[in-house]
Amino acid sequence: MIVGVPKEIYPNERRVALVPAVIPNLRKAGLDVIVQAGAGTSAGYPDSEYADKGAKIAETRAEVFQSADIIVQFLCHGANDKNGPEDLPLMKRGLVLVGFLRPLGTAKTLQEIAERGVTSFSVELMPRTTRAQSMDALSSMATICGYKAVLVAADTLPRMFPMLTTAAGTIAPARVLIIGAGVAGLQAIATARRLGAVASAYDMRPAAKEQVQSLGGRFVELPIEAKDAQDARGYGKAQDESFYQKQRELLGNTIAESDVVITAAVIPGKKSPVLVTKEMVQRMSLGSVIIDLAAERGGNCELTKPDETVVEHGVTIIGEFNLAGTVPYHASQMYARNVGAFLLHLVKEGKVQLNLNDEIIRETLVTHEGEIVNSRVREFFSLPAVAAKV
Ligand SMILES: NC(=O)c1ccc[n+]([C@@H]2O[C@H](COP(=O)([O-])OP(=O)(O)OC[C@H]3O[C@@H](n4cnc5c(N)ncnc54)[C@H](O)[C@@H]3O)[C@@H](O)[C@H]2O)c1
Repeated sequence: MIVGVPKEIYPNERRVALVPAVIPNLRKAGLDVIVQAGAGTSAGYPDSEYADKGAKIAETRAEVFQSADIIVQFLCHGANDKNGPEDLPLMKRGLVLVGFLRPLGTAKTLQEIAERGVTSFSVELMPRTTRAQSMDALSSMATICGYKAVLVAADTLPRMFPMLTTAAGTIAPARVLIIGAGVAGLQAIATARRLGAVASAYDMRPAAKEQVQSLGGRFVELPIEAKDAQDARGYGKAQDESFYQKQRELLGNTIAESDVVITAAVIPGKKSPVLVTKEMVQRMSLGSVIIDLAAERGGNCELTKPDETVVEHGVTIIGEFNLAGTVPYHASQMYARNVGAFLLHLVKEGKVQLNLNDEIIRETLVTHEGEIVNSRVREFFSLPAVAAKV
């Protein structure tokens, strides 16, 4: 079987789905690799390194799609809302596609992939089990986002992060508040602490308290309790508007006292709750910074502009979508390990095994033989159930 790695085409995307280091393991399992020339260059992986590990370099994208049985990408059609459709005519019947598909975005893009006869797997739907941990691309990207958010905040803030005692007086440490202590939020706490800031975090999941504290962060306790804060997969569950209203009231003072607020409170497939209002931004000190990691799903801050940086009431609000993509070397390395582990799970004895009794395969499979077959996706879009064909 041949695994194809096209160059990412989303504007300014620098990541690449496979890095040279994972190729030997794939080849041992009988998977050859073909890479589009220049696919890894902007992430720091030249063609020569792929060739050294035994990959074939193809001059054109069409050649990669033509030769490959399996295509691995970061942003597939669906997750790439700028020029993703360009790949559709290149997809041949029976092709296996693995990558970010944004499966709870719109059914239309998934339908278009299905109509090409493509068997597609969405990395976003990877179950959160110990077995699937090595394949969890969302956690990999969230780790990088949390890290980079703190660096961007530190670079933007007109203050230093650490406490310093100098001959010119004492510098107070920066106060960083993280709202949403999932993978990204926890990495942000760790990074802010490494830079010497005082880090606090809030999450509606009670389990987050211990995780925040184990990283040296202070847990902000609010006297409200979320109903079923966590679903079976470990994700936060959407709450009603009155709960969010209470959160906003109770978070107001803590936000006003923070130099940096990093928001990462997202609910899969839902618009992100607004937890920082215009009035709350107004109460922050001049020069403060908000990094809204939920920007792509509407944002946790009322004043966030999608994929833009704005200054409102003297506060810089950064709503950049692709922070993970700004660390392309390690983002690609982590993703390649995740996707590589998935491929080794999917392909046995030189054949793709669509074993629907396997949770990892069943939950990530989105389209097959012309249809959207994933039950969670069908339910989300209120599509009637289909009989399993595999
Ligand atoms: N394989 C695994 O077992 C596995 C993999 C990844 C993550 N996890 C765990 O799952 C949990 C969620 O992590 P994630 O990164 O996927 O989360 P996520 O990106 O889905 O959400 C970020 C966080 O925001 C919180 N949140 C949502 N709405 C909120 C609100 N209104 N107020 C406050 N907080 C709100 C959620 O509780 C969550 O912790 C973490 O405990 C993480 O360690 C487990």
